[in-house]
Amino acid sequence: SPLAEFIRRMPKCELHVHLEGSITPKTLLELATKNAISLPANDLAGVERMFQYEHFLGFLDVYRTCARCLIHGEDFERVAYELAIDLAQQQVRYAEVMLSPAQHMQRNMDFDEILGGVAAGFARAERETGILCRPAFDFGRQFSLDQALRAVELAQAGMKYGVVAFSIGGDEANYPPEPFVEVFALAKAVGLHVMAHAGEVAGANSVRGAVEMLGVDRIGHGFRVLEDSELTEFLARRGDITFDVCPTSNIRTGVVASFEQHPLRQMLDAGLPITLNSDDPVLFNTSVTGEYLLAAERFDFALADICKVALQSAKASFLPAEQRQQLL
Ligand code: ADE
Ligand code: ZN
Repeated sequence: SPLAEFIRRMPKCELHVHLEGSITPKTLLELATKNAISLPANDLAGVERMFQYEHFLGFLDVYRTCARCLIHGEDFERVAYELAIDLAQQQVRYAEVMLSPAQHMQRNMDFDEILGGVAAGFARAERETGILCRPAFDFGRQFSLDQALRAVELAQAGMKYGVVAFSIGGDEANYPPEPFVEVFALAKAVGLHVMAHAGEVAGANSVRGAVEMLGVDRIGHGFRVLEDSELTEFLARRGDITFDVCPTSNIRTGVVASFEQHPLRQMLDAGLPITLNSDDPVLFNTSVTGEYLLAAERFDFALADICKVALQSAKASFLPAEQRQQLL
């Protein structure tokens, strides 16, 4: 259709994508072999079978398995480059790419090596295609607050490699946002933008906590905000906190039962600022383009709605104002 063709050619941003959830099956197998990491699969078909989840926590296990295959700077460089090239082929002009620091910290890895690798991969893709990518940290909330503070320090040191933001992810149902108040205060004090996965696995109170206690600039997923109409209206009226929505992710992790039941359309109609994102493109077999096509084909987004979302993704990016302007 003409709208699908428009979506494929439209310049886009992706604001919510995890590096560890973007490793292609081929690369994952090669890294596991090279680094002598045992995987629950040893061929492509086996890896595809790994990427089916019974429930959200099962998904997080698979995510951690993928993260474990990254050991050396060159591993991070490879996956960062491959992701950036894939995005550039989708006409993505700018991407914010989350890394999960906690797991890498537990393995005592050198963050100069990690971020040096990521930055080199992004720089090579930028030279070849013009795509701009920036790293962000997504701290697994099930790890300790001490480690979270340490992760903020590592993110601050990582700003020289382009790190733009600090976020919390992982097990939202069992780890509410409130205890992270000092962690987020520190992140903001050092000049990082801040985000939280919220209203994905837990309800509207988790979104409220992320907004009121953590002062987030953007929310990952956030669709369960709709369970609180007062908060929804408040955030729609404010209009300064963007919801990075990832519909396929929500279906694949089982937090939403079906596409018919996903409230993407209600978020748009409520007037919330939203963007569309892949979250973990390989783990969910999707892409940012795929999410836009889904919005058009299954959620009745018209051309004007598609443009609104794409413009919002440029507007809500964490680039300095001058560079952000150039995306529009
Ligand atoms: N880490 C990677 N993907 C995630 C998601 N969808 N929610 C929370 N943590 C994640
Ligand atoms: Zn995510």
